[in-house]
Amino acid sequence: MKLLFINGVNLNMTGVRERGVYGSSTLDEINAEIAAHFKGVECAFYQSNNEGDICTAIQNADCDGIVLNAGAFTHYSYAIRDAVASVSVPVVEVHMSNVFKREPFRHVSVLSEVCAGTIAGFGKNSYILAGESFLLGK
Ligand code: DQA
Repeated sequence: MKLLFINGVNLNMTGVRERGVYGSSTLDEINAEIAAHFKGVECAFYQSNNEGDICTAIQNADCDGIVLNAGAFTHYSYAIRDAVASVSVPVVEVHMSNVFKREPFRHVSVLSEVCAGTIAGFGKNSYILAGESFLLGK
């Protein structure tokens, strides 16, 4: 089993920005926790602030599942939506915060319709819960 964890715009600032919302662990620390949790699973990690680079990472993904936190791109990127729709690898949408308890613009995801499911609101554990969904299957 191979999983690819993709983080989009501003997620490189995790642990520095809005700690009350996203926690105090850095993205590297979170990724290390994910890798430690998924022993026996090949985990790869990618982060970019560039929409096109996220699309390319999705197009080139050679794995069994993608865990995608697109950050603010979630709410308006038709390009990332089309990239997700163009591949057969299943994608689970993730948010650390509970976007539905936040500003109205965060209640809209243009990605959800093309994703296998969505996990939101469990902080860094949202990534682990999303990864577990691939191990459990349907
Ligand atoms: C986020 C929620 C988004 O609304 C926000 O723009 C982010 C992070 C989350 O993980 O909770 O950058 O995707």
